[in-house]
Amino acid sequence: MYISKFVSPEIIFGKGSLNQIGECCFRLGATKVFLVADRGIIDCGWVEKALPYLENSRLQYYTWSNFSANPRDFEVEKGALLYSEEGCDAVLAIGGGSAIDAAKAVATLASNGGRIQEYEGIDLITKPLPPIIAVPSTAGSGSEVSQFSIIADSKRKIKMTIISKSLVPDIAISDPIILSTVNSRLTAHTGMEALSHAIEAFVSLASTDLTDVHALHAIKLIAGNLRASVASQVNEGAKVAMAKASLQAGLAFSNAVLGLAHAMSHQVGGLLDLPIGETSAILLPAVMRFNLISSIDKFAEVCRAMGIKDNQMTNRQAAEKTIDMVQQLAEDVGIPPGLSQLGLSEEVIPELSRNAIKDACFITNPRDATVEDIMEIFHRAF
Ligand SMILES: [Fe+2]
Repeated sequence: MYISKFVSPEIIFGKGSLNQIGECCFRLGATKVFLVADRGIIDCGWVEKALPYLENSRLQYYTWSNFSANPRDFEVEKGALLYSEEGCDAVLAIGGGSAIDAAKAVATLASNGGRIQEYEGIDLITKPLPPIIAVPSTAGSGSEVSQFSIIADSKRKIKMTIISKSLVPDIAISDPIILSTVNSRLTAHTGMEALSHAIEAFVSLASTDLTDVHALHAIKLIAGNLRASVASQVNEGAKVAMAKASLQAGLAFSNAVLGLAHAMSHQVGGLLDLPIGETSAILLPAVMRFNLISSIDKFAEVCRAMGIKDNQMTNRQAAEKTIDMVQQLAEDVGIPPGLSQLGLSEEVIPELSRNAIKDACFITNPRDATVEDIMEIFHRAF
C-alpha cells in the first residue's frame, strides 16, 4: 500500500503578524525564549520591534546572533551550550533561512545532545525538540514550514542536509512587511530559491496531490511577482505574494523533498561558502534540461502556471518553453549566467559531483543520474 504524509506547522500569515510572537511563545509553554536573529535583521530594527511583544507576555529572552550566513557545525554547538546555560525552554527564530536553520540545529542539540553531524540524513532525531517558532525575514528558504535544516560541516566543507519531522517549527509567523527591508539582490536570490523549491518539489518522485497544489500556486505567484518585488522594496502587493509563494514552496518541498539542483547546489555552497539561492538559480535550468525526458507533462503544467495559455503547443514544446522562461526570469532579476562567475574552478567539478550523489536531495530527483551525468550538468552550468 502507498502511504503519503504531509507535515505543516500552525501558520499565521499577514501584515503586522509579528505582534503574535509573545502569545505564541507563551501558548507553547515558554518562560525563557532563545531568540535567534541574524545581524541583518537586528540592524534593520526588527528585533527591537519584536522584544516588547515578548515582554508583554512576561517572557524572558536571550538573544543569539553568533552564526554565519551559512551556519556552521561549531557555531550551532556553541548555541546549544548557551541555550542550556541560559535556562531557555523555547526557540524563536527571526531572520532568513540561516537563522531558522541555525535555530533548528540548536534545538536539536539542546534536546538530543551529541554533534550535529550525527543527525545528517533522514529521520535520525529521536528525542522531542523544544518548541520552535519561526518568523522568516526573506521570501525564499521556506525553512519556517519545512522539516529541513542545512548546516555547513567546517571540516568536510559541505552543507549537510538534516531532514526530520521534528524540525518542522510548531508555529510559522509570516509577516510580509518584514520583506520591505530586504535589498533587491537578496530578494532576487531568495525568490529564485523559492522557485527552485517549487519546481523541484513538483517533479520530485515523492510529490503528491497535496504537495503539487502548493508547488503550482507558488510557481504562479513567483512568475507573476518576483520581478516586481525585485524592482521595488515598497511594492506591498508583490511582497505579500512572494511571502505566500515562499511559504507554499516550503510546504511543497518539505513534504516532496527536492532534486538534483539542490543536491548540486549544496556542494557548491559548502565549498565556496555561498548562500544557496544564487547557485540553485544558475543550476536549475541545466538540471531541468537534464530532467526533461522524465517530466515533460509536469513541466508543461508549470508552463501554464507561469501564465502561458497556448493550446497549440505540444507538452514537449511547453516543457521546453518552461525552461527558457525560468532562464529568462533568472536573467531579469540579475542572476549571473554561469557558476564560473561565482568563483568556481572547473577542477573541483568531479569532487562536487561525487558528493552531490550522496546528498539526501538526490534521492527524489525524477531522473537517475551517474557521477558523469552530474559532471556534465555542472559543465553546462559553468
Ligand atoms: Fe533550498
